[in-house]
Amino acid sequence: MISVRVEGWAAFPLPVGATLLQGCEAAGIPMESACGGFACCNSCRVGVLEGDCGVASAEEEPFLDLPSQRLGCQWQPAGDVTVSLQPGA
Ligand code: FES
Repeated sequence: MISVRVEGWAAFPLPVGATLLQGCEAAGIPMESACGGFACCNSCRVGVLEGDCGVASAEEEPFLDLPSQRLGCQWQPAGDVTVSLQPGA
């Protein structure tokens, strides 16, 4: 299990291979997902504050402004991370 902390919320465990969006939904954290998790909107975009943000997929790249951003519906964190749901703030 990976430990994920979303800024302003308690940390929660995320199974290896699960997306951040799946973890937030299971933990009751309101991550937007306007396109239903198909990498078509960017409402699930997060900023990675701590930990390895990995490499964004080709589907994510058009929606990202910074290397430290990922789409929650596509990203499967590989280690403990802290993220912000307001990546531009
Ligand atoms: S939910 Fe739309 S891009 Fe992630």
